[in-house]
Amino acid sequence: MSSRPFDIPIPDEPRDPFPIVTDYYCDIVCGFGRGSKDLGVPTANVEMSQLPASMNSLDLGVYFGFAQLRPVDKTTSRVNRKDGKEVEYNYGEHLSEKRGELDVLPMVLSVGKNPFYGNDFKTAELHILHNFSHNFYGAQVKFNILGHIRPELNYTTKEALIKDINTDIDIAKRTLESVNYIKFKDQF
Ligand SMILES: Cc1cc2nc3c(=O)[nH]c(=O)nc-3n(C[C@H](O)[C@H](O)[C@H](O)COP(=O)(O)O)c2cc1C
Repeated sequence: MSSRPFDIPIPDEPRDPFPIVTDYYCDIVCGFGRGSKDLGVPTANVEMSQLPASMNSLDLGVYFGFAQLRPVDKTTSRVNRKDGKEVEYNYGEHLSEKRGELDVLPMVLSVGKNPFYGNDFKTAELHILHNFSHNFYGAQVKFNILGHIRPELNYTTKEALIKDINTDIDIAKRTLESVNYIKFKDQF
């Protein structure tokens, strides 16, 4: 695959400051729901305040690594989103071991302010590379970051953003399958 002008070269194995690991499970909160509706790329959003300082200080951009979900033992409830809309949190009650949804899975991570949508705050959003049968707001996730793909960019069209996200996904998939990266699946 030919690289884009803004791609950051990916080394043969994770290099300083990677790997960075959360060491604990973080709560998955809802964003504005645009990831799945608008872009066809659902994301699990995590509060920046729950992340280790070494993740908080990363440059804004796109990263990759492995993630593992776990359900939380709470009953379904309705939670107010940042824009006031009510959203149902199921706390991951539909996550299924049989469907591989609780495995350690490859992911791409966007750390940034989503300039395309004009957010004025930073978010961390994981797109886990698996076909989930339900959403899992309120569940928890633990993850590591193994490398940096590119800086966060602004876009004039949604199609251009989607195209770049899909290239990010291809790069993450290919890299995480390689021998020096796949071994970090065992970091969990
Ligand atoms: C792999 C990946 C790369 C992304 N790159 C960018 C980017 O360069 N610029 C940008 O404005 N948003 C980027 N986004 C963020 C999307 O804009 C974001 O997922 C979308 O705003 C959905 O947010 P929501 O969950 O709050 O609705 C990226 C998201 C992912 C998963």
